[in-house]
Amino acid sequence: MKGIVLQRKQAAKIQLLDLPKPACGPGEVLIKIKAAALNHRDEWCRKGLYPNLKDGVVLGSDGAGIVEEVGAGVDSSLLGNEVIINAAKNWGSNEKAQAKEFEILGMPSHGTLAEYIAVPADRIHAKPMHLNWEEAAALPLAGLTAYRALVVKGQVQVGDQVLVTGIGGGVAQFAAQFALALGAKVFVSSSAPEKIAQAIDQGASAGFNYTQANWSAAALQQTGGMNLVIDGASGDTLSNLMEVCKPGARIVFYGATRGNPGQLEARKLFWNQLQLIGSTMGSDADFLQMLQLVEKFKIKPVVDQCYPFSQAEAAFDRMKEGKQFGKITLVP
Ligand SMILES: NC(=O)c1ccc[n+]([C@@H]2O[C@H](COP(=O)([O-])OP(=O)(O)OC[C@H]3O[C@@H](n4cnc5c(N)ncnc54)[C@H](OP(=O)(O)O)[C@@H]3O)[C@@H](O)[C@H]2O)c1
Repeated sequence: MKGIVLQRKQAAKIQLLDLPKPACGPGEVLIKIKAAALNHRDEWCRKGLYPNLKDGVVLGSDGAGIVEEVGAGVDSSLLGNEVIINAAKNWGSNEKAQAKEFEILGMPSHGTLAEYIAVPADRIHAKPMHLNWEEAAALPLAGLTAYRALVVKGQVQVGDQVLVTGIGGGVAQFAAQFALALGAKVFVSSSAPEKIAQAIDQGASAGFNYTQANWSAAALQQTGGMNLVIDGASGDTLSNLMEVCKPGARIVFYGATRGNPGQLEARKLFWNQLQLIGSTMGSDADFLQMLQLVEKFKIKPVVDQCYPFSQAEAAFDRMKEGKQFGKITLVP
C-alpha cells in the first residue's frame, strides 16, 4: 500500500513509500482510507518539533474510510461500514485530563496518511451522513479540540461574545462554527483580510487583523469586549487577548503556534478576574458530544484544498506557510 512516512533524511522530510498492508490484530479493524486530513502536528513532526519522533512512521491523525477487515473479537457487522477515526487513544477515565498513556495516531503509532490503517475498534464512529469523504476526514482531531476548548473548558453560553483567533486554522474554523451554532456572537482574528471576509460570510460579526498594532484596543472599543477567547497561537499575542476581554472572561488556549508569551501582565489578569485555561484534544465523551452537535446542526467542515498523496509535500507546505482557510485534505 502507499503511505506517507516521516523521513528526516529527505529534503522534504516526508516520503511516499510502498509499505506492507497493516495486519488487523485482535480488537482492531482495518480501514481502507478514502480521505485523510492534515493537522499542525503533522507539520511539527516534519519540522522536528514534536516529541519522540521516529522515521518510517506513517503520519496523519485524521481519516475516514470503509471497514475492510475485523480482528478477533470484533463484531463482523462493522464490515463495509463508512466510518471516521478518533485519533485520541487511551484518554483514560478522568474527564478532567488525559492519562499518561494517552497518544495520538500518526506518531508514534502509524497514522492515516496511507491506503490502510488498523485501529482499535472503539476508535471508529459512523461517518455523519451529511458529510462527503473529505469533509468527514477533516472533522475528528480539530473538531474534538475545538469542542472541548469551547464547550467543556470555555463553557460557552448563548449570547456570549467569543473571539476565535487565527480563523484560517483548522481548529479555529470548528470553534467558530460550533460557537455560532450554540448561539454565541462570534468575532475572529486573522493575518489575512480575505480570511476575515470569508469568516464574516460564514456568520462572524467582525474580524481584526492581529498583525496590526493596537488591534485589540480597537476590537475592545468596537465590541465592548469578549466573554470568551479561543486561541491556538499563545506567544506575545496573549497580552492582546487579555486586553480584549471583559472582566471575568475566560481565555482558553489549545496551542502555541507562536511559542510562549514573553511576559504575562499578572495585574491585568487578577484585577480583571480573568481565567486562563488550557485544553488538549478531548475525551471519548467529548468526541461523542461533538459528533452530536455536528449532526444536530448539520455542520460541514471547511475544506481548504484537497491533494493526492503524490503531492503531499505541497499540502504540508501550504500548512507551513499558513495559507489555508480550513482543513487541508489528502486522498490516496
Ligand atoms: N492541544 C491540542 O490538542 C491541539 C490540537 C490541535 C492543534 N493544536 C495546536 O494548535 C495550533 C493550531 O493548530 P491547527 O491544526 O488548527 O493549525 P493550522 O490549521 O495550521 O492553523 C494555524 C493558524 O494559526 C494562526 N496564527 C498564526 N499566528 C497567529 C497569531 N499570532 N495569532 C493568532 N493566530 C495565529 C493562523 O491564522 P490566520 O491564517 O487566520 O492568520 C494560521 O492559519 C497548533 O500549534 C497546533 O499544534 C493543539
